[in-house]
Amino acid sequence: MSHPIDIEERLGATPPVPLPLVEGAAFMGTHVPLIERYHERLPFEVGDKLVSLQEGSTPLLRAPVISAMVGATVRLKLEGANPTGSFKDRGMTCAVSAAARDGAKAVICASTGNTAASAAAYAARAGITCAVIVPDGKIAQGKMAQTLVHGARVISLAGNFDQALTLVRELTATHPIVLVNSVNEFRIEGQKTAAFEIHEALEGGCEALYIPVGNAGNITSYWRGFRELGASPRMLGFQAEGAAPLVEGKVIEHPETVASAIRIGNPVRWEDAMAAATDSRGAIRVVSDKEILTAYKLLASREGMFCEPASAASVAGLLKYGADGAEQIVCVLTGRGLKDPETALANNDGKVIQCVAEIAAIEEAVLGDP
Ligand code: F0G
Repeated sequence: MSHPIDIEERLGATPPVPLPLVEGAAFMGTHVPLIERYHERLPFEVGDKLVSLQEGSTPLLRAPVISAMVGATVRLKLEGANPTGSFKDRGMTCAVSAAARDGAKAVICASTGNTAASAAAYAARAGITCAVIVPDGKIAQGKMAQTLVHGARVISLAGNFDQALTLVRELTATHPIVLVNSVNEFRIEGQKTAAFEIHEALEGGCEALYIPVGNAGNITSYWRGFRELGASPRMLGFQAEGAAPLVEGKVIEHPETVASAIRIGNPVRWEDAMAAATDSRGAIRVVSDKEILTAYKLLASREGMFCEPASAASVAGLLKYGADGAEQIVCVLTGRGLKDPETALANNDGKVIQCVAEIAAIEEAVLGDP
């Protein structure tokens, strides 16, 4: 047996790791990174160096309770099952692979949290520097923890997401840092693969897609993905009441919502999102924070699915506006509930029972009147 050494010492001796960082398919069973799975439909060549964390191929889960409530077959696309816990990984594997291929040394994004966590993880994997600009005090704890532990430089802006994005676009115009927000086409390309997965799983049967809308990159991506396959389910996007520029038809200067991920007043993919809604005979609609939290709790307590508040906007939209004639429905759950423990702890009907370590007290705590 070899002699144990101090781990810090071994770290000091780590040589640079060369790309590619993806193992051959034989090592991965059926779980192939999405760039390999959808290689012909993505802007990469065979042999390109990829930065992957084996993202994509997420579950499509039946939701029996919600199905019964709306009189349709409803499935949940569990994007929180991606490696960093949100759909952003689909776009990030493409954006960071392209950046690494082009020799970039640094990536940057503005973010309400998930893009930051994803960019930080993929940059760490690629061995490139990452900086993120987040609205001060407005991103969920889990996302902040991820971003920091992956080693990104975190800049907490005295301003909102829209201001952060404007500044970061200005910065990248004059510095050799790759912008990995959804203005980056590789992000849209990667995220469209979720539509491919739904189309394959339901054999083209998806009639309506319910999806939260913030910066509007994701609805744009899904619509592009479906169109590439010749499919056209209705795209139904949902914004939070205090942050609904697409519904109100004007920029919201001070967006507010409990769903911090979609606290956005001036979406960068504005026209694309409106085109997706119009061309698919869908719509962008509004749900209140109360409706979001009701759907959030219903998902957790009745379907066993803990998503983050922004994700629940899709289900809130379905419960509010109904199936509208569609029989096969998919609601996109964009991120995992663990991302935002504060909101979960502040919004649940449970209670914690304090107890001393004695059998009589335990009996009372477990079996007594609640
Ligand atoms: N759901 C979650 C969990 C998100 O993090 C986001 C966006 C959305 C929905 C909306 O997607 O912006 O493509 O319309 N989060 C971005 C971020 C803005 O910085 O993490 P979109």
